[in-house]
Amino acid sequence: MSILDAAGKKQLTQQERFEKTRTLVYGSSAKASTELASEVAALIRSRKEEGKNVVLGLATGSTPVPFYRALIRLHKEEGLSFENVITFNLDEYYGLVRDHPESYYRFMRDQLFDHVDVPEANINIPDGTVSLDTVYESCLDYEKKIEDAGGLDLQILGIGRTGHIGFNEPGSTEDSITRMITLDRVTRQDAAADFMGVANVPRSAITMGVGTILKAERIVLMAWGGNKAEIVRDAVEGEITDQISASFLQNHPNATFLVDQAASTRLTRVRYPWLVGSVDWDDSMTKRAVVWLSQKLEKPFLKLVDEDYNEAGAGELLASTSHEAYQVNIDVFNAVQHTISGWPGGKPGVDDENRPERAEPNPKNVLVLSPEPSDAFIGMGGTIDRLIDQGHNVNIVCQTSGNLRVSDAAAHNFASVVSEMAETGIGEGWDAQAKYAGEIQQALEDKGEFGVDPDLVRKLKGLILRGEARDAASICGYQRKKVGKVTFVDLPFYETGRYRRFHLRQEDVDSMQALLQSFSPDSVFATGDASDPSSPQAICFAAFRQAWQKIYDCEGSRDGECSVWLYRSRDQPLESHEIEMAVPMSPDQAAIKSDALRKFNSLSEQEYNAAQRNRDIAISYDHLGMAQYEAIEAFRRW
Ligand code: F6R
Repeated sequence: MSILDAAGKKQLTQQERFEKTRTLVYGSSAKASTELASEVAALIRSRKEEGKNVVLGLATGSTPVPFYRALIRLHKEEGLSFENVITFNLDEYYGLVRDHPESYYRFMRDQLFDHVDVPEANINIPDGTVSLDTVYESCLDYEKKIEDAGGLDLQILGIGRTGHIGFNEPGSTEDSITRMITLDRVTRQDAAADFMGVANVPRSAITMGVGTILKAERIVLMAWGGNKAEIVRDAVEGEITDQISASFLQNHPNATFLVDQAASTRLTRVRYPWLVGSVDWDDSMTKRAVVWLSQKLEKPFLKLVDEDYNEAGAGELLASTSHEAYQVNIDVFNAVQHTISGWPGGKPGVDDENRPERAEPNPKNVLVLSPEPSDAFIGMGGTIDRLIDQGHNVNIVCQTSGNLRVSDAAAHNFASVVSEMAETGIGEGWDAQAKYAGEIQQALEDKGEFGVDPDLVRKLKGLILRGEARDAASICGYQRKKVGKVTFVDLPFYETGRYRRFHLRQEDVDSMQALLQSFSPDSVFATGDASDPSSPQAICFAAFRQAWQKIYDCEGSRDGECSVWLYRSRDQPLESHEIEMAVPMSPDQAAIKSDALRKFNSLSEQEYNAAQRNRDIAISYDHLGMAQYEAIEAFRRW
């Protein structure tokens, strides 16, 4: 099915009937981006043959990066020329000079324009440096320029968690035009890692309006990763509202959402498939439907009756199994009950048939993969504590140094302590150390507020984070039990990259492969499977996955020999029906986890509050009719 030609929109299938904007679900962002790029290439070429230009509206952020890479490849390897392309970018931060490392101007140069042959004069990006009293005029000029170019043939969009397209935050009207806007709190938080702290993120931006975007001939909005799933559903299936500017695309005759699997998980056809057609009622589908029913009706499993199933649209489940509600309820109750285990490494010496983890071997070699050093503690700090307590050999592997998260102030403090020690004579013969501290201070000063850290500074920031991770581990049982290991592998992709622009390399996979081979785990805990593909979490997961496949595809299956559990750290938490191991936490353990997280100085408020998410999971289990726990950490099998 063509992406750019949405003529099929009017013929939605039964499955898609809740979707008011055409939505195509792809196996991966890479596949969707390559396909879109080749359709755009065909458009550029056919226009060229007609002697005409193509006017493209472009977006920044992590979402379009794979699409731009695919365009660059087509230019370099297949001779695609951009000479007849005119571009208009959606937006720019207000107050950032063009060469600021986070300006959208810089971004577009790095990610696309410096690698293809778009004529300089054809590139248009809103100017974030105009004085306040000329903003209005310059926005009108931008509108006029688009019009003079013949209007946008194709507008590429991403979507923010507020539902914004461009920077059209909640409250933007359908007919809004290019203007200055105040950025939403959520949007600024999402940009915090790029700017090394939310305080540094600009408060306003210049953006094309919703009306400007809707005038485009065709519109393609891309969304990747689980954190976008909810807003994609709201924009595609919900009411049209100025609180979600992407919902206005429902009014456009040729708009298409391209999403990967993780971003599609909240669409009705994916989440509640029995509402849009017939399904195969296997155990997992049954569990999913009964959890949904219980939550929808706010009734615990064991109180659901036949009529509840029928009235909510899940009558087919009872009919197809010829069971009464009573039996189905009990089966699902037991299945969910069996996910609960205080023995995440398996309970030795007991029948393990209905336990999430096998009893033997015991103790186990447990590998906990933490993409950034804090991830493992955010996602499974309580479980680490239990694993250690229960005598397993736990190795927390921090896959990246995470140094981009550490503030300049932290590096500065360290350097000040060292130079003061040298000065006060406590550190006698500390000439070399004093010189090092001086170099750090100088480098921080030279790079300015947003400059790129030189290697020396990145290294120090990474070491600071290592210290924090060791402190957190010691709170999660390492100190008490005097066992456990924290390993730092500093995967290379991270050391030379920036947020939103990372990509996996062969050395990363090799490094993970060496680690797996040397540690030979009995169980692995990993995260990042549903993350934004350009995030360190997703790339670390891809490195692990490729390494795993390389080893076990050669050596044969390790089924039963090594279990792999997935946890969530910064991403959308697992939903009740997805959980395959629920590790309960006592109030004391929840407090231990919070203490461990406080060791990390660079976490956001939301990340510090991870224990609250664990409380929410416990509440949802409680509402299903399971035992009441203080908090639960949740896992899914890979
Ligand atoms: C950027 C833009 C924004 C982004 C959105 C998603 O030019 O217009 O609407 O598309 O904030 O950002 P990412 O792709 O980084 O998740």
